[in-house]
Amino acid sequence: MTVNPSWVLRSHPTAMPTPDNWTLEDRAIPDAVDGELLVKTMWLSVDPYMRGRISPAKNYAAGIPLGGLMKGGGIGEVIASNSPDFKPGDVVISDYFGWQPFSTIPAGSAKIVDTVSAPAQAALSYLGMPGLTAYFSLLKTGAPKEGETVLISAASGAVGQIAGQIARIRGLDPVAIAGTDTKVAWCKELGYRAGINHRTSTDLVGDVAAACPNGVDVFLDNTAGPLHDAAMLNLNTFGRVVIVGTIALADKFDKPDIGMRHLRQTLITRARIQGFLLDDFEEDYTNAAADLLSWHQQGLLKTREDIAEGIEAVPGAFVRMLKGENFGKQLVKL
Ligand SMILES: NC(=O)c1ccc[n+]([C@@H]2O[C@H](COP(=O)([O-])OP(=O)(O)OC[C@H]3O[C@@H](n4cnc5c(N)ncnc54)[C@H](OP(=O)(O)O)[C@@H]3O)[C@@H](O)[C@H]2O)c1
Repeated sequence: MTVNPSWVLRSHPTAMPTPDNWTLEDRAIPDAVDGELLVKTMWLSVDPYMRGRISPAKNYAAGIPLGGLMKGGGIGEVIASNSPDFKPGDVVISDYFGWQPFSTIPAGSAKIVDTVSAPAQAALSYLGMPGLTAYFSLLKTGAPKEGETVLISAASGAVGQIAGQIARIRGLDPVAIAGTDTKVAWCKELGYRAGINHRTSTDLVGDVAAACPNGVDVFLDNTAGPLHDAAMLNLNTFGRVVIVGTIALADKFDKPDIGMRHLRQTLITRARIQGFLLDDFEEDYTNAAADLLSWHQQGLLKTREDIAEGIEAVPGAFVRMLKGENFGKQLVKL
């Protein structure tokens, strides 16, 4: 182990990323300049959006340049602070952690983590980005009405596991799509009424129809790909399709997304198809996080984490999540 082993982007993946797209470089522990914090990393989050950050293609946020330090969400302890808002010993969360044991982060990006109400890493899962994404994509963009059928892909994952349980809490009828029988069984334990294993299904359209006998009113599309087509072909009149993520395109990220065209289907159903970005809901985060915490404390929200350990494990944890080998929110503990 070197002083501050840091993962640097070595090449842009042209297919499914592999750990070889990064290289581990020895770096010095950085100094925090004005307005920065030096933090000791406790947890790193590996998330699907990072697939876009390692692509040269246009995206909603700037990518990591070749030779650049890989960055993402993390939680750490403040070692030195050049901001009046933080002091050594504070535990903070930020989207600007390097994939390294010691990072400098802009103080303006950091928030203190409440480690009393929940373990620190909850801020990277059900109390943070995935939980808030589930909350707003379902309840705001999906605009469900009581009793409606909500179909959710990547249903056992960080977003999907929370979305299904919120649907149940709100009197909806959640149906899961997940990638193994074990994941489907766990989704049912969480409160999903039915589930489909998309990796063993030979007839996705028929399986969605069977699992959703009243049709699909809201589709939380966490994946794109063939699951999207199967949901579209089962959509009810005035259905709502929320495009939350496109992880099924991880191995063909920079290539055209070729599949069925649904213009006729959209016309017939008068469906609303809307892209979702969590950042658009920032002003309501506090209330949503309070709901999520309260549901968890009441035992209404169960969660599952998949934890890898050590700085060496970070790229591998990211890639296995893209391939669906994670079971629950993928985190790396340092
Ligand atoms: N728009 C936003 O603001 C926002 C914010 C957060 C997350 N998201 C999106 O939400 C989605 C879920 O993110 P997450 O953090 O909760 O990840 P996750 O579900 O914990 O992990 C990703 C899962 O995607 C599934 N998957 C991978 N390849 C697939 C394929 N070809 N077809 C179908 N499913 C596939 C796998 O589950 P199975 O084994 O079940 O297939 C895998 O476990 C991602 O697309 C992410 O980009 C969007």
